[in-house]
Amino acid sequence: MVYERDISNIIWDDEAIQQRIREMAREIERDYKPKLERNGKIEPLILVGLLKGAFLFLADLVRNIEEIPVEVDFVRIASYGEGTTSGELRFIQDLVDPVLNRHILIVEDIVDTGNTLHYLADILSNRGAASTGFCVLIDKSARREKPVGMDYVGFECEEDKFLVGYGLDYAEKYRNLKIIGELDPSAI
Ligand code: IMP
Ligand code: MG
Repeated sequence: MVYERDISNIIWDDEAIQQRIREMAREIERDYKPKLERNGKIEPLILVGLLKGAFLFLADLVRNIEEIPVEVDFVRIASYGEGTTSGELRFIQDLVDPVLNRHILIVEDIVDTGNTLHYLADILSNRGAASTGFCVLIDKSARREKPVGMDYVGFECEEDKFLVGYGLDYAEKYRNLKIIGELDPSAI
């Protein structure tokens, strides 16, 4: 594998990731089934993926949701510069579908400082969504700056590690890996 030497250790393998996503899908179905009922009908839940990092997580998550109707949309928020440091945020791709009176679940790969989700939560709350939930695959708490209430968390990461794989990149590399691992300092 071309990136083998860049990963110092595998933290969650393919099987662990897929198993956890199946569990999260069950939790989401259970919680949203009663919420989505309106006048005897069941409305779709809108899953909003943050590009680029959440593309694999969202793809696997929706394929495990079978008991409630879902729609999919994407936003893209970028920080200036690339690599490990996050700078000032810009909203470079907006949702395509209106959020007014809809139940929205934001799907993100990893929450670190919390700035990205905080920024997005502010925007969506001004647009009159019926509810806004947060579903993150990894909660990395060591460098949290803004409090964000997470509704669904796949895995906790208490140490300040730089993770790559399964959507997570370093300078646009490693997104295609099936595993999530720690990037070896020699690769930076
Ligand atoms: P936050 O705004 O600091 O919470 O950071 C969120 C974004 O930073 C995530 O969506 C990722 O794109 C990126 N990020 C944070 N930590 C990592 C990491 O360990 N590996 C790869 N990307 C990360
Ligand atoms: Mg991201």
